[in-house]
Amino acid sequence: DWTMAAYRDEAIRLIREQVGDAQVICGLSGGVDSSVAAVLIHEAIGDQLTCVFVDHGLLRQNEAEEVVGMFRDHYNIPLIHADESELFLGALEGVSDPETKRKTIGKLFIDVFQKYADQIEGAEFLAQGTLYPDVIESVSFSGGPSVTIKSHHNVGGLPEKMGLKLVEPLRELFKDEVRALGHELGLPASFIGRHPFPGPGLAIRCPGEITREKLEILRKADAVYIDQIRKHGLYDEIWQAFVAILPVRTVGVMGDGRTYDYACALRAVTSVDGMTADYYPFSHEFLGETATRIINEVKGINRVTYDITSKPPGTIEWE
Ligand code: XMP
Repeated sequence: DWTMAAYRDEAIRLIREQVGDAQVICGLSGGVDSSVAAVLIHEAIGDQLTCVFVDHGLLRQNEAEEVVGMFRDHYNIPLIHADESELFLGALEGVSDPETKRKTIGKLFIDVFQKYADQIEGAEFLAQGTLYPDVIESVSFSGGPSVTIKSHHNVGGLPEKMGLKLVEPLRELFKDEVRALGHELGLPASFIGRHPFPGPGLAIRCPGEITREKLEILRKADAVYIDQIRKHGLYDEIWQAFVAILPVRTVGVMGDGRTYDYACALRAVTSVDGMTADYYPFSHEFLGETATRIINEVKGINRVTYDITSKPPGTIEWE
């Protein structure tokens, strides 16, 4: 009789057997897979686990606080909050080509992760939230929302380079099973049901040059949009929803004055695996209300559009 509780007990036994007395490092992104892996491994080996959360300055509003609050304060998991936003944003200055952005972020991510991992004495293992679909798909990036370092940043080979052995306790599971296991481990539903978030973060939702000003505007608009979606009870029906800030200013009127501010695009899609997607059919009422709220509440945006492109031919992200 197979239950998630039994799976969890067996997984814990296997982790203990594999790791022994050694130290384990886990790259935590705040996504479902790495979160479940971290909590499971922590149940198995306690403080032999240290998590490293790389903050590249391209996270959403309150995201770092939420991750640190959950893992360090709630679960008492030793956690290094690697706040390297200056480094990443500095390197991205003047960069507008999408591939260059991704490569810059991916390379720095490895450097930073390695720097912090080197500080953990006696580390012999690297934990990853690799899922079964990642295992069977041999390409380095599956296009899926998994949050292993490998698929996020195309850094296959990192464990070997660092001389670490892998711990991958979710290797036999599909996404829905990982969610069930997360539930079994007591992770809050708000964490388990989170929409996927790409490794390069807000960088690929900010076409053109990334500036702190644009990131700040984007964070605020995104928070209002997600709040609207939650308030209307639509969050769980949608695979992924976010705002992209467009590299263009347009003219508007507000009160007696003229405005000249950024335009943004709302994106929301339904999907099974992220490989194909349909735009979500919001009501006009919802869209109108959301546009009004964003323009009223977010200084710097005076025009809101809705992206009705499906995948293919569009991708889910804008870059
Ligand atoms: P696209 O935009 O290619 O995205 O339709 C498909 C899914 O993958 C996510 N995505 C990424 N995930 N690293 C990731 O781990 C990345 O570099 C990356 N780029 C896109 C995207 O958010 C969507 O869920």
